[in-house]
Amino acid sequence: MPLKLNTLYLSDFISSHELDYMAPALASAHKLLEDKTGPGNDFLGWLSLGNSNPPDELARMKESTRWIQDNCDILVVIGIGGSYLGAKAALDFLRSPNYNALPKSTPDIIFVGNTLSPDALNESLALCKGKRVCLNVISKSGTTTEAALAFRVFRALMVEQYGKEGAKDRIFCTTDAARGSLKSLADTKGYPTFVIPDDVGGRFSLFTPVGLLPIAVAGCDIDAILSACTAAQKTFASLDLEQNPAYKYAAIRNLLHRKGRMIEVLVSYEPALTMLGEWYKQLYGESEGKDGKGLYPSSMCFSTDLHSLGQFVQEGSNILFETVLQIAKPQADFFLAPDSENFDGLNFLADQNLSAVNQKAFLGTLLAHLEGGVPNMVIEIDDRSEKSFGELIFFFEKACAVSGYLLGVNPFDQPGVEAYKKNMFALLGKPGFESAKKELEDKLLKLSSAQ
Ligand code: PA5
Repeated sequence: MPLKLNTLYLSDFISSHELDYMAPALASAHKLLEDKTGPGNDFLGWLSLGNSNPPDELARMKESTRWIQDNCDILVVIGIGGSYLGAKAALDFLRSPNYNALPKSTPDIIFVGNTLSPDALNESLALCKGKRVCLNVISKSGTTTEAALAFRVFRALMVEQYGKEGAKDRIFCTTDAARGSLKSLADTKGYPTFVIPDDVGGRFSLFTPVGLLPIAVAGCDIDAILSACTAAQKTFASLDLEQNPAYKYAAIRNLLHRKGRMIEVLVSYEPALTMLGEWYKQLYGESEGKDGKGLYPSSMCFSTDLHSLGQFVQEGSNILFETVLQIAKPQADFFLAPDSENFDGLNFLADQNLSAVNQKAFLGTLLAHLEGGVPNMVIEIDDRSEKSFGELIFFFEKACAVSGYLLGVNPFDQPGVEAYKKNMFALLGKPGFESAKKELEDKLLKLSSAQ
């Protein structure tokens, strides 16, 4: 079954005529995307990635995948933001958040270069000790500090362990076709490169080698993911809201936002989807949060978070709505056997599968949160297969682009990400930032003496 958007529980919050009234706005957002005439229109390559990855590049990537699988125990994926979140989300969704610890025939995969924490870096280096290591460094700009710094450290490790020549077989760079210091470094040192197309921005790049190479190394079927994306490209291009859950979702988010909801919580009842929540937060946060506008994207995993944030959802400031991601079939169910002693009093749960208990937790929570005045809609997918994953990712991407246009922002830039970088470079004394340094240091002094 294809992905479904269940909006039955929204009747107290949105009337059907309100959705009808969104039709003209949706049609213009759709036209901006289709005609490539909207803001950020030079970043629309992601719309066709299901079938636009060059076959020879896919073949080369699969060849590298086999080499990595045969020759390494651990693949170190270096990247930050859109250059790692999608692959990590995929790994957890399709395999497991405990992928590295589980028995398997594919290499461990660790993600580094997404923090400046010395503890995290030292720990990643320790994990590589005594192992056969390969690197996949991913950076579209090729200049991002966190990734570049980790690459410097891990490249030195590779040269020390395998020599300059040996390292060439084990370092794979995913970056721009021509620009950036990562591309020049790769070309100079002879490391193989995979291309992130010019017209695909970081957070929309999961279906390029950015996501595909690490996902393939984990043994997942990237052809099935791309086929699902291709099918989704058709489904999510219809202007008929009953046929197109992505546009319906975008319209509902927009209506709820106009009615005063400030936060969207992406909820799931499956820990393997926690990283998908992180990926979704980056996609929507960077795409919509600008010009003083946008819904704040957040995520929760129930029932864990029902014992923490659940209190806020039920009775706190009434500013959020929930989008629940429901998976019909678990990878493997768990039968709850009766216990003749029943000391824990749990025999009322026995003789059924744990998925049925999880489903009742969902229904009970849904009713409670609706009672608490929290709008809920539900995205329903079949399972944790490659097909469901490909469709789900494209669903969120398409809905995000349309949401951005409905909101009146450019969904494809991220000017706000630069502000912290400039300050950090200035404070660190990077050449070219000298004048800002003094100004920032004065500001810091003022702040600390104001106490
Ligand atoms: O969506 C984006 O473009 C960003 O979040 C980038 O993915 C992130 O900043 C990393 O950039 P780069 O791949 O250039 O290192």
